[in-house]
Formats: sequence, C-alpha cells, structure tokens
Amino acid sequence: MADCTVRGDIVHFIDSPTREDPKRGLVYIPNGLLKIRDGRVIDVAPFDQEVASEETVIDYSGHLIMPGFIDAHVHYVQADVIASYGKQLLDWLNDYTFPLERRYSDPELCRETAQWFLRELWRNGTTTALVWPASFKQSAAAIFESAYGANMRLISGKVMMDRHCPDYLADSARSSYEDSLELIQQWHGKGRLSYAVTPRFAPTSTEEQLNLAGRLMADVPDVYMQTHLAENQDEIRWVKELFPKSRSYLDVYRQFGLLSSRSFFGHCIYLDDEDRKIMSRRNATAVFCPTSNLFLGSGLFDLRQAEQVGLSVALGSDVGGGSSYGMLQTMHGAYSITQLKGFPVFPLQPWHWATLGAAKALNLEDSIGNFEPGKEADFVVIDPKATEVLSRRMASSETLEEKLFALMVLGDDRAIKATYILGVPKHSV
Ligand code: GUN
Ligand code: ZN
Repeated sequence: MADCTVRGDIVHFIDSPTREDPKRGLVYIPNGLLKIRDGRVIDVAPFDQEVASEETVIDYSGHLIMPGFIDAHVHYVQADVIASYGKQLLDWLNDYTFPLERRYSDPELCRETAQWFLRELWRNGTTTALVWPASFKQSAAAIFESAYGANMRLISGKVMMDRHCPDYLADSARSSYEDSLELIQQWHGKGRLSYAVTPRFAPTSTEEQLNLAGRLMADVPDVYMQTHLAENQDEIRWVKELFPKSRSYLDVYRQFGLLSSRSFFGHCIYLDDEDRKIMSRRNATAVFCPTSNLFLGSGLFDLRQAEQVGLSVALGSDVGGGSSYGMLQTMHGAYSITQLKGFPVFPLQPWHWATLGAAKALNLEDSIGNFEPGKEADFVVIDPKATEVLSRRMASSETLEEKLFALMVLGDDRAIKATYILGVPKHSV
C-alpha cells in the first residue's frame, strides 16, 4: 500500500455545513501537503519546504485536492442504457432496461463491464459507490471481484425481483435469499467491501421476498439495504394497488423490516410529511438522483421538506436513468432541481453530500469522507481551470465557495486530473 505526499490546495469538511452556518466544517489549506502512509492519511498541513525536501512530493500546485466522491446509487449493468430516448420509469424499465440487464447472466460481460465501469467512476473522481448489478448472482460477484482487485471501498448486492418482471430476470423468494446469503458470506467485510440487500422496488417483489430481505437485514450485522422509493407517479399508483393495506409506499418497506439507519432509498420524490418524519427518526437516507429525475421526467426532490425534518440526504448518479457518471454534473443537477423548487442548495451543500455527508450516512465517517489522520486515502485532484470557460470564471471568483459553486456548474470529467484509492493513482491525465 502506498506512501506518498501530494501538494495542492486541500479542501475537505470536518463537520457538516448547514443552511444557517453554510461554511461550518470547511477546511481550506491553499498550497498544502497531504501525507499518506500505508494508504492512510497521516496529516494535512501548509506546504513546508523543509518537509517537502525530505520526501518525494507529487506536485499538483494550482489544483484542488479533495476526498474522493461517493456515489450513493448507480447501476453498473445499465452502462448501455444511458441516454435512451423519451420514456418514463415503467416503460423505460420494460422497453430498455430489462432487456439489457438480461445480458448480465453472462459472466464474461459482467467482468468486462464491471472493470470498464470502475474505470469510468475513477475518471469522474468517484472512489466509493453503492452499486446495483442485475438479479444474476454472477453480476454481483463480478463487481465485488473488480472492486476487491482495486482495493476499492464499494457496496453492492444482487438485485432481488421475483414478480412483475420478465421471466428471464426473475428469481424466487427462496433463491434470492440463498444467493444473497452466499454473496454475503463471500464478500461482506472482505477487503473494503460491504453487502447491501437489494430488493429492486416494492412492485417487483412478493411479500415473501420482502420478508426474507428483512430477515437478511436482521440477521447479518452491518449489512446495508438499497432500493427505490417514490420516484414516479405511475409507480406509486401501482404500489397502492399492490399493497392496499400499507399507509404509504415507505410503509411497505417498514413493514418488512427494511427501514433502518443502513437503508438507502433512491429518489424519494413523492413522500408525505409522515414518511419524511419516520425516515428521519430511523436515520434512513434519501438518495437524491437529480440527473435521473430530470432525464426520466420523474419529478423534483423537495429539499425544503427534507431539511425541515433533518432527513439524511446523499447524492446518486443513477446511471442509466441518470445521464452522467460525474458527481460534478450530479451536484449541478441538484442545484437545478432545488432551484426549480424555489429552495436551492447552498453552494457547499452538494460538495458535502458527495463526501463527508455520504460517509456519515453510511456510518463510514471513521474510514472515508475527509482527510483526518487515519482515514483511508481516497482522493481526487481537480483542475479548476480545466476548460476555457472554467478558467475565465475562476479568474473572476473571489471566495472558495464561489469557485466551488462555479466548478460544480461548469465542471465535468475534464476537470478530474487524478483519482487515488488508498494513495494509489487509479486515474491520471
Ligand atoms: N425503479 C426500479 N428499478 C429502477 C431502475 O433500474 N432505475 C430507476 N431509476 N428506478 C427504478
Ligand atoms: Zn436506480
């Protein structure tokens, strides 16, 4: 594991900023040194010539050095679905997504796509992700295997779906339980990997399957849960028909033991006040997937209501519903949607969500999310002048906040100069 010292403008959070105190926890060390030993952060400090002359310094002067981004919801098996025209969720699933996920019964395609996908995450500065494979056990094994080979911190789990989907994708309640358990035994806690129990969404699981998913959550310590929730109006009507006795869509998951502080619910657009309060009380996380919500025409996430009850929020690219692997574009989408809702994110809020915020939501803040001593050295080097437009806009910005805001609005993969995992460069241009 790597030892290295890098020089640049270091930015990280040591606490969560709030709307009342929008720079709380922000640490900025212009011309600083980040020291890494055995893949962990030893120290961040202002540049010191004496220290620098004693060791080999990788010089990223003029670049930002930040904790690697955390994408809290992304489907690797949808790499070939991204940018498919014009359907809303349920048609998009049936017409594009299910037929393509079918191909991931092929272990060779799984391996090839998993490797390509991780490289694409790194090209975009993402170092940790909650990743969705398909319902085939081999598609989950492939992403775990690739991430393990790269020493990456990654969370995934086989999709569970035993009804209302094509036969070629359907598992059974029993087989999904057994396959999940087998994958947990193989991968959960191995290297930096964790397992997430992954029922696709309420409509594609029988009560028996949801029940067994809940049993996995109860029986296996530290396992996560990921699913989709309240993304689209037709989907919500369908859930009401299928589960007429449940108070709400969220309540279906609650009834089956799937609502906890380790639960990550993608989208959460159409929650009611009661849902938000219950989610907040249980410390569950809403994963805001802005580019997907725009692309699939799903709707506008209500940040005002989420903040009112102190709901934990993380950000997801949700490729292939989402239109970009980049967390910079995802942050930009978060601004656009909350602006349309009349309650825009404050400039540092998406930067926090994509780093320390997500680490806290995952209960991994002792391992990742910032540069406190002992943390795993996953970081990204960003060129704030990567394009003509960025360069010009940076010249007219005064504060760090202003720069970061412009960077998330104008930036993309061209701004990602390098991405390191445990102090090892995985992407560099
Ligand atoms: N709901 C159920 N499955 C999916 C999926 O693959 N993508 C999105 N965006 N929503 C879903
Ligand atoms: Zn999704």
